[in-house]
Amino acid sequence: MGPLQIKEILQTAPENQAVTLKGWVRTKRESKNAIFIALNDGSTIHNIQAVAEPGQFSPELLLSVTTGACLKIEGQLVESQGSGQTVEVKITDILVYGAADPDAYPLQPKKHSLEFLREIAHLRPRTNTFSAILRIRHVLAFAVHQYYNDNGFFYLHTPVITASDAEGAGEMFRVTTLDLNKLPRTEDGAINFKEDFFGREANLTVSGQLEGELGAMALSKIYTFGPTFRAENSNTTRHLAEFWMIEPEMAFFELEDNMDLAEDFVKKVIAYALEHCKDDLNFLQSRLAEEEKNKPQNERSIPLLEKLSFVVDNPFERLTYTEAIDILLKSKPHKEKKFQYPVGWGIDLSSEHERYLVEKHFKKPVILTNYPREIKSFYMKLDEDGKTVRAMDVLFPGIGEIIGGSQREDNYEKLLERVHEVGIDPQTIWWYLETRKFGTAPHSGFGLGFERLVQFVTGMGNIRDVIPFPRYPKSAEF
Ligand code: 4AD
Repeated sequence: MGPLQIKEILQTAPENQAVTLKGWVRTKRESKNAIFIALNDGSTIHNIQAVAEPGQFSPELLLSVTTGACLKIEGQLVESQGSGQTVEVKITDILVYGAADPDAYPLQPKKHSLEFLREIAHLRPRTNTFSAILRIRHVLAFAVHQYYNDNGFFYLHTPVITASDAEGAGEMFRVTTLDLNKLPRTEDGAINFKEDFFGREANLTVSGQLEGELGAMALSKIYTFGPTFRAENSNTTRHLAEFWMIEPEMAFFELEDNMDLAEDFVKKVIAYALEHCKDDLNFLQSRLAEEEKNKPQNERSIPLLEKLSFVVDNPFERLTYTEAIDILLKSKPHKEKKFQYPVGWGIDLSSEHERYLVEKHFKKPVILTNYPREIKSFYMKLDEDGKTVRAMDVLFPGIGEIIGGSQREDNYEKLLERVHEVGIDPQTIWWYLETRKFGTAPHSGFGLGFERLVQFVTGMGNIRDVIPFPRYPKSAEF
């Protein structure tokens, strides 16, 4: 459907047949004998080379064929004379759909910093790096749906606007239609949310989990895949204010089953990307190698494809939080007081602790389980000792936590006790609590941060570079 894309044309046997190219100019080069135009339409990392003879076109037309201009080129597909490509197009006609003034167009063919490209997020998908990332992002999203579909899960669409705080962490963006300059008040002076659109306080969801659990209590195995929002003021390379999360939720799964699913799932989607994104991954691998070429050999990271294959081929290390604390207490950086934050049972592991476990001690992905109840969410199932909960975090090298999940508390009284303990008004989640009253069952689930997965697969250092239009503190331009 539609015109052939450059990716398809590049794979076609050249027989002097007529072809039409549509795309954006990456470079134009003129030699004594020919004019070479490298055209790209985003369907592949590879450009197609189109060749014209000197004098074939007017100087005015050629002046508007500059980097960034959009062209329609008619010509014949022939075997390439030059090295670097097998086919090229002998141009018969050029139509300039849209010129791009070289004095104004910011994406000239030279190296641009990722920081600069973030400022021109409307144009950065036209670079090799970002088009590769966006194609890989698409393939991973497709692999996610395929994985769950193949394994008997149903895609459940959970709401974006909610009136509850699924994580109980109070990091929500408010949704309102009230006039902020003329807020309606109750008799005691508080804001009267009864007059708001939903007749109550509402917010953007931080997670689809609570509604996901309702789905699992009817369909057995569901997953969500949608945007989630956190108003945490985290200016890090791992946090976004708007990110996409995949949250499977399964009736009759205990913590062990949950871990097996999480491990199998990430391995399968990474393997899918390895199989279907070879060109883009090779490009990103070379890009990373180029970035690190001035570093001493022993400080360079392992090549991207090798890193991904390693994760696919090796079992993740599984241990409890308590065992992890023991390892940290016996570690060299702890003994030499090199950790910035103290180590002891009960702490929330900081990223330096997680990095030590994953990158120095085990040198592979790690699943940590059975965390202290005080540092985890209210819905996690209490262990028999009453001190820990059936939580699991999957930690990845270079990324930290990529998955967070747990077996859920399925006992009504115990869950209600935790709800009170963390200060949630049970009235706001009465419907959630009812699942424990009517036909409760052991069940489990987890959330995978999609951008953290894309970050791992592409090797990008900053999460802001793996989503087309990142949202973070003080930034919602595009
Ligand atoms: O650990 P979190 O907060 O868990 C939940 O939201 C659960 N309701 C999931 C579940 O059990 N259904 O978040 C899950 C994952 C994290 O491991 C991380 O990968 C990602 O979501 N994440 C973020 N990604 C980008 N920016 C942020 N601000 C993120 N916060 C969490």
